Amino acid sequence: MTIEDINAAASGTWKLGDMPVHRVGFGAMRLPQTGGALVADAVPRDRAQAVAVLRRAVELGVNHIDTAAFYFSPLRSANELINSALAPYPDDLVIATKVGPARDASGEWATHAMTAAALRGQVEENLRQLGRDHLDLVNLRIVRDDAFEERFGALADMQKEGLIRHLGLSNVRPWNLEKARAIAPVVCVQNPYGFGVFPEQDEMLRLCGAHGIAFVPFYSLAGTGREGGASGAEEAPEITAVARAHEATPAQIRLAWTLHQGEHVLAIPGTGDLRHLEQNIAAGAVRLTDDDLDVLSEAARPTDQ
Ligand SMILES: NC(=O)c1ccc[n+]([C@@H]2O[C@H](COP(=O)([O-])OP(=O)(O)OC[C@H]3O[C@@H](n4cnc5c(N)ncnc54)[C@H](OP(=O)(O)O)[C@@H]3O)[C@@H](O)[C@H]2O)c1
Repeated sequence: MTIEDINAAASGTWKLGDMPVHRVGFGAMRLPQTGGALVADAVPRDRAQAVAVLRRAVELGVNHIDTAAFYFSPLRSANELINSALAPYPDDLVIATKVGPARDASGEWATHAMTAAALRGQVEENLRQLGRDHLDLVNLRIVRDDAFEERFGALADMQKEGLIRHLGLSNVRPWNLEKARAIAPVVCVQNPYGFGVFPEQDEMLRLCGAHGIAFVPFYSLAGTGREGGASGAEEAPEITAVARAHEATPAQIRLAWTLHQGEHVLAIPGTGDLRHLEQNIAAGAVRLTDDDLDVLSEAARPTDQ
């Protein structure tokens, strides 16, 4: 595939509520810094490079960007970079953000937003930073179940007010999805998932598919490296063999495998590197054969978590 052929449209389309998006999107958590994310002493990324990555993503057909107000390093904020690079926003661009977690101004983790007032403050913070009057999609990101229905209900109230178009969930279990759906429609679930890691998420992936809800995995490349990023450790021989056959990189096969888990699975790989960005978007055009999937399934469920 030549660079001219790369477009996120090749990954197919899924509707987040009434908003169609290409199945390969972009995660903005890696943009504000190099190396590990969400640490107070992160090294800020070169501003021009971060802006270039965002503009290139959109140029290559990405119309689904995941962000959060708590994605920032000492000098850069993902939301501000998105605003500076992309506003006025293309009509078809869906910016998904998440609320719940909080960091103080110094970057240290603070108390989760547990009340309606705290959640409203976070929604308003995202509106200010992104320069919007409403948010396309807000995920309630939880770590504990306390007051779950009250918190999701508070977001549903803000949706009724017109501050939020669609609602999603993150880091949740089937219990949460069931409770939330009784309060308001849920268009996506963002949970960790990827080749060889987080197999406990299979149930949620299938459940979302059964309900026509997008499953949007994070850490599909980083795996157990989580915020620290991809480990760079040697790849499983099954992945390298399939990669060779498709003239692809192992990371591209990881993403392609994830997308092959269902039409409702959307990818939001995170990178601050232009070459990786192009490879990730190109991965949406990789069509794995049944034989490839058989080979990969042999290696997809290790237990080293
Ligand atoms: N809802 C939640 O709780 C939650 C949690 C975490 C993340 N997220 C979202 O999900 C997105 C994805 O997660 P993530 O960024 O942590 O992990 P990821 O996309 O699984 O992996 C990112 C890591 O892989 C590397 N990478 C990216 N493309 C690559 C390629 N083509 N070849 C080799 N290495 C590559 C990146 O480094 P380089 O920068 O060097 O490319 C980085 O270390 C985030 O950006 C964020 O928007 C959501």
